[in-house]
Amino acid sequence: MLERNNELTAWDRDHFFHPSTHMGMHARGETPTRVIGSGEGVYITDRNGRTSLDAFAGLYCVNVGYGRQKIADAIAEQARNLAYYHAYVGHGTEASITLSKMIIDRAPEGMSRVYFGLSGSDANETNIKLIWYYNNILGRPEKKKIISRWRGYHGSGVMTGSLTGLELFHNAFDLPRVPILHTEAPYYFRRPDRSMSEEQFSQYCADKLEELIVAEGPETIAAFIGEPILGTGGIVPPPKGYWEKIQAVLSKYDILLVADEVVTGFGRLGTMFGSDHYGMKPDLITIAKGLTSAYAPLSGTIVSDRFWQVLVQGSDELGAIGHGWTYSSHPICAAAGIANLELIDELGLVHNAGETGAYFRSELARAVADHKHVGEVRGDGLMAAVEFVEDKDDRKFFDASQKIGPQIAAALLERGVIGRAMPQGDILGFAPPLCLTREEADIVVKATSEAIDSVFANR
Ligand SMILES: Cc1ncc(COP(=O)(O)O)c(C=O)c1O
Repeated sequence: MLERNNELTAWDRDHFFHPSTHMGMHARGETPTRVIGSGEGVYITDRNGRTSLDAFAGLYCVNVGYGRQKIADAIAEQARNLAYYHAYVGHGTEASITLSKMIIDRAPEGMSRVYFGLSGSDANETNIKLIWYYNNILGRPEKKKIISRWRGYHGSGVMTGSLTGLELFHNAFDLPRVPILHTEAPYYFRRPDRSMSEEQFSQYCADKLEELIVAEGPETIAAFIGEPILGTGGIVPPPKGYWEKIQAVLSKYDILLVADEVVTGFGRLGTMFGSDHYGMKPDLITIAKGLTSAYAPLSGTIVSDRFWQVLVQGSDELGAIGHGWTYSSHPICAAAGIANLELIDELGLVHNAGETGAYFRSELARAVADHKHVGEVRGDGLMAAVEFVEDKDDRKFFDASQKIGPQIAAALLERGVIGRAMPQGDILGFAPPLCLTREEADIVVKATSEAIDSVFANR
């Protein structure tokens, strides 16, 4: 076993090009290789036999938890019966058709069709193309720009990496590309003027958006994309009244709304969709992660009925739509999706996310909010974040070079719990599987409190 592990580590350093990894440090062996071997419930175990409570559900995606036999069986059965057939020119499989019906049954009102992809990034890429197609069909070829928010995360392709509003995903890649524009992040803790109430800050964000639209020319702005709650940008719930005020501006200028629900879709906030949770009325919804709980890669673009009617008009005028992926609605992934959505219902996981999420967040706040370097504890449903500051009264942030967030995540891991050091700012994020129990939440809270104390012990 030891020999095999050493061999895997050597191959990993020499051949595996990891995503979002410091390439030099990893290749030189300065950062650890952790080879994960198995998972059960909220726990994963590596090949050295070390078990960790995964309080980030992989990349907030293993929503039903690890080791679900029902999904494994559905995948195996589909692979045996029919591993693949494509979905072009009206073809389908029982799994892909059934899953599309199950998604629309659960989606917010007014949604009509699902276009399947494999990742959140490709689903957002589909959104951009469909939005351009839509405005061409409506005879407004100049209405093409898409507004995203600073700190939004929408993927790491050329266009979706441009939508993403985080420096790490732009630097040295020549991103963002036109025609993507960014507006204010709805990040109340980092508001420019501390005297603003949440409502005033929401109004400020809506005013900034309107200024940008007017400056660019409303006839050039096609859509606005946002996660219901900022995820990778820091796990930041919207300030009070935010979506209402933003949607009023969008309607005024006939701008489409895309809700990127890759993280929030299928229960994470204690409602099936984040759009329902915050009163959003999107034209398009992006889904991925929670659709299969990452047992197989599958994403989707859900289009509203109003939007769909224009697409139909488009193919009546131009012929079949020129947009397709080989693996769109792959039957094995669709079978995983069906079993996953059934499990979410059977186990009452949407309800649990709301209830255990509220317990977890209040216990977390009780345990760490008074620490002198904790600026804010925030979240919604089963998403939570602790943001660290050098000085609480002055809201002074640490210099990024001190790597406070990564140090705390490492101290937490030493205590057997996985949290995520979010990429911009010193923020420790949590998004555990939706099956988390109160006892497991207590373990996460205790370890977090100890990890924070240990990192700041000598300050
Ligand atoms: C909100 C959101 N949209 C899109 C994506 C991109 O998804 P993927 O990594 O599957 O391309 C992510 C990934 O974390 C996400 O959080």
